[in-house]
Amino acid sequence: MMSLKGKAAVITGASNGIGTATARTLVAAGAKVVVAGRREDRLAALVAELPPKRAVAAPSDLLDPETPAQLMEACLDAFGTCDIVVNNAGTMHVGTIEDMDMNAAARMIRVNVEAVTQLSYAALRHFKAQGSGHLVNISSILGTKVRPTTGIYAGTKYAVEALSEALRMELAGTNIKLSVIEPGLVDTELQDHFATHPKDALGIQRLLDPEDIARCIRFVLEQPDHVRIPVMMVLPSEQAM
Ligand SMILES: NC(=O)c1ccc[n+]([C@@H]2O[C@H](COP(=O)([O-])OP(=O)(O)OC[C@H]3O[C@@H](n4cnc5c(N)ncnc54)[C@H](OP(=O)(O)O)[C@@H]3O)[C@@H](O)[C@H]2O)c1
Repeated sequence: MMSLKGKAAVITGASNGIGTATARTLVAAGAKVVVAGRREDRLAALVAELPPKRAVAAPSDLLDPETPAQLMEACLDAFGTCDIVVNNAGTMHVGTIEDMDMNAAARMIRVNVEAVTQLSYAALRHFKAQGSGHLVNISSILGTKVRPTTGIYAGTKYAVEALSEALRMELAGTNIKLSVIEPGLVDTELQDHFATHPKDALGIQRLLDPEDIARCIRFVLEQPDHVRIPVMMVLPSEQAM
């Protein structure tokens, strides 16, 4: 296994859910992290709970086109290197043709697709210059299939899948790795604003914990150099689709 000791990571969406769990897990594995998100208080609390000099907060809004480049700079400034980028931040808005909030949909497309694209290219350009690095893009089971009312969210995740697969092909034969994680339902704030939570719509009692996804991200990152894990789907045991 490859050790994460001394590696530096940028993690977006680290103020809650999968991102917070990933920051804790990677630091426990020996890495240093730049934790990003808009909620400064959450990031400060996360940094305070982690060992000294192992985490830096980068409060930022991914709707600002400057943010992806600034996050790479923040990691290089804080730790002198950037070895891992986890494109995790995301939002989810669903609705019928009549009810869909189109402003929320447009913001979702910008966070889930535009920002992920910008940070992917910023990370990979740095990794190519450095000769190593690992990009992890968080997609979804809805990056592989659709349900009625989820078309726009699924479309953002299909875009992440297409981008990631093309980039993975470009990177074959290099020392730069790219992995996509496709979670099923995870117990976070993502769907808290839904009128009916998907766990009730799908009849799922036991969701995944954010730590389950963080553990999979760590597993992917710790593989030896001759191994690539392009895609990993992770589902609660009751989730049929
Ligand atoms: N939960 C699930 O069931 C599930 C399933 C499949 C895939 N996923 C994917 O997993 C990823 C993480 O989601 P989660 O479940 O952990 O959701 P979450 O608890 O709602 O966390 C989302 C994170 O994204 C950040 N974020 C949202 N908009 C942002 C913006 N404009 N600028 C900067 N940061 C922003 C939030 O931070 P601030 O609000 O502080 O900015 C927050 O830290 C997402 O890509 C999601 O699509 C989740």
